[in-house]
Amino acid sequence: MKKQVLTGIKPTGRIHLGNYIGAIKPALQLAENQSYNTAYFVADYHGLTKIHNPIEMKELSYGVAAAWLALGLNPDSATFYRQSDVPEIFELSWILSCFAPKGLLNRAHAYKSLVEENQNGGKEVDSGVNMGVFTYPILMAADILLFQTELVPVGKDQIQHVEIARDIAESFNKQYGETFVLPEYVIQEETSVLPGLDGRKMSKSYNNTIPLFEEPNKLRKLINKIKTDSSSPEEPKNPDASVIFALYKEFASSDQSEEMRRRFQQGIGWGEAKKELFNVMNSFLEVPRLNYEELMTNRDRLDAILLNGAIKARKKTIPFMKEIKRKIGMYH
Ligand code: ADP
Ligand code: TRP
Repeated sequence: MKKQVLTGIKPTGRIHLGNYIGAIKPALQLAENQSYNTAYFVADYHGLTKIHNPIEMKELSYGVAAAWLALGLNPDSATFYRQSDVPEIFELSWILSCFAPKGLLNRAHAYKSLVEENQNGGKEVDSGVNMGVFTYPILMAADILLFQTELVPVGKDQIQHVEIARDIAESFNKQYGETFVLPEYVIQEETSVLPGLDGRKMSKSYNNTIPLFEEPNKLRKLINKIKTDSSSPEEPKNPDASVIFALYKEFASSDQSEEMRRRFQQGIGWGEAKKELFNVMNSFLEVPRLNYEELMTNRDRLDAILLNGAIKARKKTIPFMKEIKRKIGMYH
């Protein structure tokens, strides 16, 4: 039996380098491996916790879909869909919510950090927090468990969510017998948290991102903005402590990376290192950027691919949902 791999990205901003390196790139590598079944999706209902403008929702959702395809996802071999086109996810989400201890969700980091922010600002603890934010990990557990997922490639910030999905699956299995596979996360150790322009985690929420499909001139400017220390060009630099080198490695060949490692150790100016980074990134992105732009002007094609993916997904989710309903004692 092939192992099931699954991951989603929510459409709350443009795809950035952190998304690519933390989630999309490892997911694409797994998709190339014949021993896995892969399910990748646009987590639009997760996006709804934040995006309440319909035009923006639409644009950002197409953007996420086009990014996956432009970077090489083959929708014939992977199952590629929009979360909102697979209604069984929501049915399962309610069922799982009846197995999710509220205390566990109180400790989920996204909710907890909003509460802490409110407390620090002297506001009511739940001020501005919608229930979607609170129950976010349950919907994510439904995404994962409905596909009998074994591996979830994500960035470090999502580890807790995968663990919550495991906990919920275990409680359900304990009550009704083996039903759900217990998922595991897959983390890219070296770049599990890619820093953004200001040194904090690169995130749409911090406005410190480098969008992947930025046009070359803007890309160059953004790369120049990456924070570096004040060491002089001649000073030897530790490549393993540098974001510039970490990024360079993601886009360069192994020979190029070894050469750059030597140059860091001998001493390279940050300006020069950034220029080299821009060059490898830009040549890697040339083709995906064109694909992306083309797909973004061809919404019907994107819709057709995604709807087809949802049909493929539901071949699994409809029968499995029936089995789950039967187990909990409902008519199916
Ligand atoms: P954001 O933090 O910008 O809102 P998302 O939460 O939509 O990003 O993340 C989508 C995927 O990309 C997740 O698997 C997440 O872990 C990964 N990811 C996001 N930012 C980074 C980062 N800075 N480094 C590594 N992975 C990241
Ligand atoms: N919560 C993830 C994020 O913010 C997106 C997501 C939704 C996801 N459902 C998922 C990731 C299922 C992996 C598996 O990035």
